[in-house]
Amino acid sequence: MSIKDALLNHFNISEQISGSNGSSFYQGSKTISSFSPIENDLITNAAVISGDQLSEILEESSKAFLIWRNMPAPQRGEIIRQYGNALRNHKQQLGELVTIECGKSIQEGLGEVQEMIDICDFAAGLSRQLSGSVFPSERPNHKLQEQYHPLGVVGIISAFNFPVAVWSWNVALAAICGNCTVWKPSEKTPITAIACFKILQMVLKTNDVPDYVFNLVIGGKDIGRQLVEDKRVTLISATGSTEMGRKVNELAAKRFAKTLLELGGNNALILSEYADVDYALKSVVFGAVGTCGQRCTSTRRLIVHEAIIEEVKRKLIDIYSTLKIGNPLNEENLVGPLIDEDAVANFFNAINEANKQGGEVLFGGTSIENLPKNYVLPALILAHNEMDIVQCETFGPILYIIPYNGNVNNAISIQNNVPQGLSSSLFTENMQEAEVYLSASGSDCGIANVNSGTSGAEIGGAFGGEKESGSGRESGSDAWKYYMRRQTNTINYGKGFALSQGIKFNN
Ligand code: UN1
Repeated sequence: MSIKDALLNHFNISEQISGSNGSSFYQGSKTISSFSPIENDLITNAAVISGDQLSEILEESSKAFLIWRNMPAPQRGEIIRQYGNALRNHKQQLGELVTIECGKSIQEGLGEVQEMIDICDFAAGLSRQLSGSVFPSERPNHKLQEQYHPLGVVGIISAFNFPVAVWSWNVALAAICGNCTVWKPSEKTPITAIACFKILQMVLKTNDVPDYVFNLVIGGKDIGRQLVEDKRVTLISATGSTEMGRKVNELAAKRFAKTLLELGGNNALILSEYADVDYALKSVVFGAVGTCGQRCTSTRRLIVHEAIIEEVKRKLIDIYSTLKIGNPLNEENLVGPLIDEDAVANFFNAINEANKQGGEVLFGGTSIENLPKNYVLPALILAHNEMDIVQCETFGPILYIIPYNGNVNNAISIQNNVPQGLSSSLFTENMQEAEVYLSASGSDCGIANVNSGTSGAEIGGAFGGEKESGSGRESGSDAWKYYMRRQTNTINYGKGFALSQGIKFNN
């Protein structure tokens, strides 16, 4: 039996599944096909949910919210803790399925499931710490406090490149906060989403969790749009391109819905003349070619001090020449395929544009003999920041090398001079440079690292970007507050009538 069939058996996945309300699976007749980018072969079909079915799910989910919001948060946390443990039991299989459906290396597929487990652990602990604040009141015998309540039904739209981890960041926090969730995964990765629900179903059954607290809907843009437009959805958390985020933002703003937008990045890594070059290049390469350059945090621009640029070019070409590219299920291969034909076309288009706009291809940028079309040779391109193609995110393994001279402020201004602001890094052993980089006049991104690459963030910190990379924060720190509404309370525990600002009103 092929590994693909073994995994479909393991998760008991049959065709016609179009979604789930937690305990049972919706059926549909119109299907979408999920192809593995590894050999471009069919994994299986998934059915598409109808607009009416989605509407029913939203109605029932709004009712389930009335029960779920009253369950003590630590009990909700216990369910997420058990889900984390169930994921531990299926880590290998789910990691393999991630690799098969989205093409990232098996190490990264397993890492993605680990990221799910980590956020479940984090959320379980957090369920006992959803604390508000008490402030000193200016009035006698008054108490002034803030507390947090759940929002309602949260819509989660996720992308193909992190088909399970990004949903988990959202669902784990949203659930412990007391919300119901409706997840629309990428049309390119519906099967891993179904597998996540197969694992979740067992936990929900054991704990008698009501139906419609956790929901899955499989569908295309029309289903995504309906989710964003429906008044019953209080928060939309969407991950994808800036173009997609702009549409979501506009639609959500029309009805004053809350949004959490995790959009494109154009992440730079600065290599100062004070960097430990050999050490830094390990992070550069992982950032640029990991997940075949298809992370929102992928390193896209390498801003290198002129004093070391020849050394860096030479060493990078050497490393790129020996990169192991091929079937990502084989542990030796570090780079797998691009997701589909469109991604390959975008990759070649960017290489052409870079050539036309004055870039110089130093390495790669071609297809690979003896490998299917989805596999490309990662590219190194000498470029300058003002080139149009360098200003936009191409979701593939292209690293633009951009020289700078003078001090680190020059590199920072090149780094910040793009529309996006997700992740960024500086490699230096000079303490002053590092502090300048992290100061208010340093990196303008949501994530700014020193001697650590642009991709591969831990779940403990808040994750998100600035400018066209979106708004809001997911994952760790106090990102949970995005899934709750804040309420300020004034309580008078005395008998005297007192107004704030000392106003006298003696009626
Ligand atoms: C994404 O690409 O959408 O920091 C998320 C990282 C991962 C998450 C990436 N932990 O690279």
